[in-house]
Amino acid sequence: MTNEQRKQPVTVLGLGLMGVALADALGRAGHPTTTWTRSNRAGPAGTTTAASAADAVAASPLVVVCVLDYRAAEDVLVGDLTGKTVVNLTTGTPEQGRETAERITARGAAYLDGGLMVNPEGIGDPTSLILVSGSADAFQEHRSTLDVLGDIRFLGADAGSAALYDTALLGIMYSAMTGYLQATALVGREGVSAARFTPLARDMLVGTASFLDSIAEQVDSGEYASRSARLDMQLSAAGHLIHAAQVRKVDTTLLEHVRSLMERAVADGHAGSDYAAVIEQLRQG
Ligand SMILES: NC(=O)c1ccc[n+]([C@@H]2O[C@H](COP(=O)([O-])OP(=O)(O)OC[C@H]3O[C@@H](n4cnc5c(N)ncnc54)[C@H](OP(=O)(O)O)[C@@H]3O)[C@@H](O)[C@H]2O)c1
Repeated sequence: MTNEQRKQPVTVLGLGLMGVALADALGRAGHPTTTWTRSNRAGPAGTTTAASAADAVAASPLVVVCVLDYRAAEDVLVGDLTGKTVVNLTTGTPEQGRETAERITARGAAYLDGGLMVNPEGIGDPTSLILVSGSADAFQEHRSTLDVLGDIRFLGADAGSAALYDTALLGIMYSAMTGYLQATALVGREGVSAARFTPLARDMLVGTASFLDSIAEQVDSGEYASRSARLDMQLSAAGHLIHAAQVRKVDTTLLEHVRSLMERAVADGHAGSDYAAVIEQLRQG
């Protein structure tokens, strides 16, 4: 094997569901992969299990960490980090990403923070979204290795950016899934199965996604004048949604909150605006 063909050694710290998937993908791609986890379990076939966290860190120039939280991540990053690149794929907040970056770089390593927008089964799929931010030099150096894990998006030098986008995108996911479940509960009261309803729900979500570019333009310009659907008209529709849910004994908390945001926007002078104007009610202070 020539030097060009030799794949970069990687260490994976943490062998939970995600750590195993990461180590497995790297090992399968031909990277000599060393693993270690707190409970000393062995890594997936084809990887080498280190005797200690310090041995695991020493084994590779690139150290990937994926454990429960940031405190655990720093606990397992023991030993000499000088000259290494640490990629922390543990879920956390932007603040934790920035603070960890400071402490890890003070120990002589380059730092990348990451957000995995995928479940363990999706690791290694080139369409699986993985957000990364922090040292641009380290990203360039290790990009081809990280590409093995999924569709890597570098978000810039601020180590907090990956977690910022991660939390924002998870907020969309949970809100959309709750909206879908609320709607499924509603139609379910009239005997419509989730399977029957779901193709329509999916089309609605795709249609809603098609509005986003135009909403973004209005948000960025602060100009919300209605082009198609006035907020006072939509407020009236929200009342129908709540009535239908109440009659069928389906929880209305989500819908009441949406209606309240719309009411406040209308009271603030946005009766003739598009839905984008609601963003002003979501910004606090
Ligand atoms: N699973 C998903 O679908 C998913 C998706 C996106 C992001 N993530 C993120 O990926 C990270 C790992 O998730 P996971 O699903 O792999 O979780 P998991 O299966 O529960 O594994 C947790 C890992 O953290 C380690 N750990 C827990 N507490 C520790 C401590 N105090 N000190 C040292 N190590 C500790 C565990 O060590 P032991 O091996 O010794 O138990 C294990 O390796 C989390 O931040 C999660 O939010 C997960």
